[in-house]
Amino acid sequence: MKKIISVVGARPNFMKIGPLHRAFLPHSDMVMHMICHTGQHFDENMSRIFFEELELPQPDFYLGVGSGSHAEQTARIMTGFEKVLMDEKPDLVVVPGDVNSTMAASLVASKMGIPIAHIEAGLRSFDRTMPEEINRMVTDVLAEYLFVSEPSGLANLRKEGIPEEKTYPVGNIMIDSLTHYLPKTEKSTILKNLELRTRDYVLVTFHRPNNVDLEIKLTELVNFLNRLSESKKVIFPVHPRTRINLEQYGLISKLESRVILTEPMGYIDFLTLTRHARLVITDSGGIQEETTWLGVPCITVRDNTERPVTVDQGTNVLAGTDLNRVQKLAGNMLEGKTKKGKIPEYWDGKTANRIVQILLRKL
Ligand code: UD1
Repeated sequence: MKKIISVVGARPNFMKIGPLHRAFLPHSDMVMHMICHTGQHFDENMSRIFFEELELPQPDFYLGVGSGSHAEQTARIMTGFEKVLMDEKPDLVVVPGDVNSTMAASLVASKMGIPIAHIEAGLRSFDRTMPEEINRMVTDVLAEYLFVSEPSGLANLRKEGIPEEKTYPVGNIMIDSLTHYLPKTEKSTILKNLELRTRDYVLVTFHRPNNVDLEIKLTELVNFLNRLSESKKVIFPVHPRTRINLEQYGLISKLESRVILTEPMGYIDFLTLTRHARLVITDSGGIQEETTWLGVPCITVRDNTERPVTVDQGTNVLAGTDLNRVQKLAGNMLEGKTKKGKIPEYWDGKTANRIVQILLRKL
């Protein structure tokens, strides 16, 4: 019997480990799959609701690290996870994505000689001011199995000298969650609750420090959303980081009534809103991919993307952070001047099975 511990911490990790857990279940005679939740995200609607909706079991280990500076958070995860590994001595640690929990767990496992599998390996924004870029680079150097979601990932790893036999193009595991839960969106009442009609609203999310931490940037964002709401209703589920800053800078009351702020949403409601949106405007990583799969137009308000396949093949437009430019682009797209995208290779809902087959063979 092999023991595998998957590490999750922040919201975007949960939809990546759900499918993996499901794919391991039929092999429970060979593999014991355990989940360690670091507690990087801890709010009800940033964490617990995802465990419920994605049918994840209670985590086997909960580290309860909470928020803090990067060093504090990383250090707390490392100390807590080291104890777990000392007690459990697993045969493999699985880390998805690029959050602090991903990198912290990888550092600990590698120093204890435990092999690491990185899901979503090889993505690069080439922007080291993003904490995620550091997390991605460190994790990929340490990992033994690098599961790659899109062509750029393979090319990047090759350039960095990672041996080819460690890399596996398996597709995008987040799309496994999307395809599995899409039928459930039929039952969601979120459009009705928010009084929305299909293709008649713009869905926006912003949480990157670059866009929301500085008062001047956040004020510009509020003005932009107000202008945008003149043509379409704007739905804005607000990440805790963004909420704290909006409140601190006294900006909540500056928003027009057609900009509808909500709490962070659960997986099914958010998927429902994405699926029926006329346009999505975001600075998230994963939402670029979900819109591409769904064929929904997306504008990414960043200077770079670590997911270029969404631009090369999908519906995503990388707009930069000049909101006047974004405004013009959004206007054009609302008038129907959108890109016709296609779904990238292996984004077929079967990525977790591919990963499990490879791991069963290799372990
Ligand atoms: C983290 C990830 C980011 C990912 C994002 C998705 C890192 C470096 N960043 O950013 O890549 O896109 O998650 O959400 O790992 N907070 C709460 N409740 C929570 C979680 C956070 O109130 O459940 C607040 C805290 O005040 C905290 C702030 O949000 O200081 C930011 O949380 P943190 O985990 O540090 O980073 P995120 O911005 O969420």
